[in-house]
Amino acid sequence: MAPRVKWRGQSGRRWRAMVSLPWLVLLLLAVAVGVEAAGEEFVYDGFGGAALALDGMAAVTSGGLLLLTNDTDMNKGHAFHPEPVRFSGGGGGVVSSFSTTFVFAIVSEFLDLSTSGFAFLVAPSRDLSGAMPQQYLGMFNASSNGDPRNRVFAVEFDTVRNPEFADINNNHVGVDVNSLNSSAAATAGYYDDATAAFQNLSLISRQPMQVWVDYDAAAAEVTVAMAPARWPRPKTPLLTTRVNLSTVIADAAYVGFSSASSIVLCKHYVLSWSFRLGGGAAPALDYAKLPKLPRIGPKPRSKALTVALPIATTVIVLTAVAVGFVLLRQRLKYAELREDWEVEFGPHRFAFKDLYDATGGFKDKRLLGAGGFGSVYKGVLPGSRTEVAVKRVSHESRQGMKEFIAEVVSIGRIRHRNLVQLLGYCRRKGELLLVYDYMPNAKW
Ligand SMILES: *[C@@H]1O[C@H](CO)[C@@H](O)[C@H](O)[C@H]1NC(C)=O
Ligand SMILES: *[C@@H]1O[C@H](CO)[C@@H](O)[C@H](O)[C@H]1NC(C)=O
Ligand SMILES: *[C@@H]1O[C@H](CO)[C@@H](O)[C@H](O)[C@H]1NC(C)=O
Ligand SMILES: *[C@@H]1O[C@H](CO)[C@@H](O)[C@H](O)[C@H]1NC(C)=O
Repeated sequence: MAPRVKWRGQSGRRWRAMVSLPWLVLLLLAVAVGVEAAGEEFVYDGFGGAALALDGMAAVTSGGLLLLTNDTDMNKGHAFHPEPVRFSGGGGGVVSSFSTTFVFAIVSEFLDLSTSGFAFLVAPSRDLSGAMPQQYLGMFNASSNGDPRNRVFAVEFDTVRNPEFADINNNHVGVDVNSLNSSAAATAGYYDDATAAFQNLSLISRQPMQVWVDYDAAAAEVTVAMAPARWPRPKTPLLTTRVNLSTVIADAAYVGFSSASSIVLCKHYVLSWSFRLGGGAAPALDYAKLPKLPRIGPKPRSKALTVALPIATTVIVLTAVAVGFVLLRQRLKYAELREDWEVEFGPHRFAFKDLYDATGGFKDKRLLGAGGFGSVYKGVLPGSRTEVAVKRVSHESRQGMKEFIAEVVSIGRIRHRNLVQLLGYCRRKGELLLVYDYMPNAKW
């Protein structure tokens, strides 16, 4: 996404340009023929493809985030809009009113651990190689801190309380003029529009937040406001302080961000940024174009899944248990006893399930007769529809069973008019079932 660059010429006529080559040429031509820039504004809705001037750790991620800090090596990073801004373009060495807004997020490795912060700054030079990291936020060093020759105006977002700079706490916003000893500071947060109550915002919460910084030249006043990202600007600012920036900011100065790493890995991101010189609010940011922050920790589960998963699991487990129970019952109900020696009698072997079905589950009304030997039931074999008589004999001992079956089967091979024909048998635990041709007149 290329930054939108708007330029306002002397005539007051406004024109917009995308930073593409033809427009750039036209812009340069306009400057060359003497169109003095009395006002200027730019918008970065995400930083993908933006031609920022970066140094140190600063980088633009593939997702379009401006990443200011990316390690724990006591390093620093800077990102500037590439061209200097003519702050006193109106003449007389008086710095014009300006307005800027940006969305940032500090993503700390540990949510409860303060690390170093970052700052929005206006500096006469992009070369901050002499500045120190850590508590100096990449803006000053021990000897330059407080020196009016710095000509640096900054708004710091500080997550460490440094007594040497008289910091108010470890979560504050400060207006810095040539020094880290802020000329005004407030706990990070905002005043609720409805209740006017102050709400803290934790800078290291990993949540994106929007900041508005305005300088009113006529009143020589700096105003800072902040709110969670995508919220409207709070009506009551977080802090307002009188400072005449005409004695601070150089005629042509660079605007951008400075940040420094510390012993704890803490990434400082800027998601989008707009700036306007010459009165009026900075262009609104397009929240739809805010680049996505990298996810930290496990992927949050969707609500549907959180509810549906346990229900589905329960249903599946219950179904499996029920099916298992039914199968087990079925197995026990139709369980048979089979031994190796029975293979040769295979053709005479009946499945218990068939006999069970044939006799309607050995119902009493199918009973043909009962005696010391066992009970006899009438049945119809499924499939062949043959009418049979099934004799159930209790048989605990397995001794002699082989001989008995052999005998029974051989008798079955004999066909005789007066002899009830034996069709076969079945064995269960403690039970022998003999299957005969059904004969209406036979005595069972
Ligand atoms: C940040 O640092 C990590 C680890 O050194 C590296 O893999 C990653 O590419 C860096 N990200 C950027 C945007 O430079
Ligand atoms: C401190 O910063 C100033 C201004 O940038 C620079 O001139 C000076 O060399 C720095 N001092 C050290 C010790 O780096
Ligand atoms: C806000 O932060 C300050 C300083 O850390 C703390 O003293 C105060 O209790 C906090 N207030 C709320 C409402 O969290
Ligand atoms: C700020 O300072 C400049 C230059 O010293 C001066 O011209 C201007 O009047 C001052 N502005 C205010 C509001 O005091």
